[in-house]
Amino acid sequence: MTNQVSSPSGNDQPLEDRVNNRSQRPTSDVFKTFMASAWAPDTSPLPAEDPAASFAATRRAALSAQFPGERLIVPAGPAKVRSNDTDYRFRPHSAFAHLTGLGVDHEPDAVLVLEPTDDGAGDQGGNHAATLYFAPMAGRDSSDFYLDSRAGEFWVGPRPTLSTMSARTGMPTESLDLLENALTKNSGPQALGGIRLRLMREVDLNVEALVDTSRINTGQDLEASDALDNELSEFVSELRLVKDEYEVAELQKSVDATIAGFEDVVRNLDAAIAHQRGERIIEGTFFARARLEGNELGYDTIAASGNNATILHWIRNTGSVSEGEVLLLDAGVEAESLYTADITRSLPVSGRYTEVQRKVYQAVLDAADAAYAAVRPGLKFRDLHVIATTVLAERLQDWGLLPVSLEEALSPEGQHHRRWMPHGTSHHLGLDVHDCAQARADLYLDAELVEGMVFTIEPGLYFKNEDLAIPEEYRGLGVRIEDDILVTADGAVNLSAALPRKPEEVEAWMAKLRS
Ligand code: GLY
Ligand code: MN
Ligand code: MN
Repeated sequence: MTNQVSSPSGNDQPLEDRVNNRSQRPTSDVFKTFMASAWAPDTSPLPAEDPAASFAATRRAALSAQFPGERLIVPAGPAKVRSNDTDYRFRPHSAFAHLTGLGVDHEPDAVLVLEPTDDGAGDQGGNHAATLYFAPMAGRDSSDFYLDSRAGEFWVGPRPTLSTMSARTGMPTESLDLLENALTKNSGPQALGGIRLRLMREVDLNVEALVDTSRINTGQDLEASDALDNELSEFVSELRLVKDEYEVAELQKSVDATIAGFEDVVRNLDAAIAHQRGERIIEGTFFARARLEGNELGYDTIAASGNNATILHWIRNTGSVSEGEVLLLDAGVEAESLYTADITRSLPVSGRYTEVQRKVYQAVLDAADAAYAAVRPGLKFRDLHVIATTVLAERLQDWGLLPVSLEEALSPEGQHHRRWMPHGTSHHLGLDVHDCAQARADLYLDAELVEGMVFTIEPGLYFKNEDLAIPEEYRGLGVRIEDDILVTADGAVNLSAALPRKPEEVEAWMAKLRS
């Protein structure tokens, strides 16, 4: 049934057709035949395998070992509408990127399916054979070539074919047209000889509908199936807790590009000071570097000057940047592989910290250094936070800001110092800025660090203009120092150490860039 609307003017054009109101595309057969003809054949050779492909195969092997005999379904997700017929740039779900090695642009609506095989008969001797389902580029002899504004080559540029995608990923590929059958064939309760499905949920509603319908049709309990799906999400999140060498190299790339972005910001600081929305100048300057050297930002830039720096996720960036303030810049370039940096520096806008700013900055730096010095395999992740916040509590006591003794503040019942640092000190970092978010606590917060983990250390102190519990001289000042840390066999490497951290080094670096 069409969506007929009878307007007072008697216009019975269906609503769904009105999207074409502005188009004046010819529809004659002559036009269609001409459009389909005389295009040079594509003679380019198949692309080489992606550098990430072999690492992705190893990750899929770990997934296969965890869930033998079950069909595992990991969607990339659809293109997301920004408004009306305009989409955001596509970014695949991080689990899909991790398990396929595909990064920027690839591939809306794609689905990775791990089909169970006999034990040991699958890829790499595992229990599954992987296939990538996606909508391949339409040929130039098809009308989709020039009619499909979301996927046609005339609109969005060349896209992979089944064979180019297969060459890049090292996996067999199939058209999305075959997905429904691939997901649903022989599915059913294991007790009745069926294949059990596990799906990464909340990624693609169309795939969810296919899986849920299949489950309902085969008499399976949807609530119990939810639990199966949650275990899959949990496992693929935990699979990212330890980074392989490809991931570490990509993270270092994104960190290096981020450092270049911080340098650009300092070079352009005078323009920010001169503009009433100086924070937007900072944000825009950093974004230019992200687009030049990577894909995007890993998260919206926090460009926060003066009192705005006390707002933890200040991403409106509508404020001015004034001499005498501290500018807190929390920003990360996302590489084309989709790994992101997450770095913060708190910079004196005038080039020199005031006495109070320097004192607060040094306290935060001491907290970060203390946590960093403790990093080694075997340390509990949660101890990073205890170490950093204990240093901050000691400084707050030295300055007379704690309303109770240090001991009382540090007790679980006290925690008065957390008024000025209410966030966590560390989070895992990778494809997501807050990576591995579905991991169980005993593998994350309560886990011991192991070689190959990458996380942030990011203590801060935030003294708001409106904070009557502190003397006026502290107010309107936010300081955070955030670095990206790799655990090594016997300690740690600060991947972002090339960006100055000590106050005098920050000042000298800024002076050099602005001269
Ligand atoms: N940029 C967000 C965070 O530091 O966690
Ligand atoms: Mn962070
Ligand atoms: Mn950050």
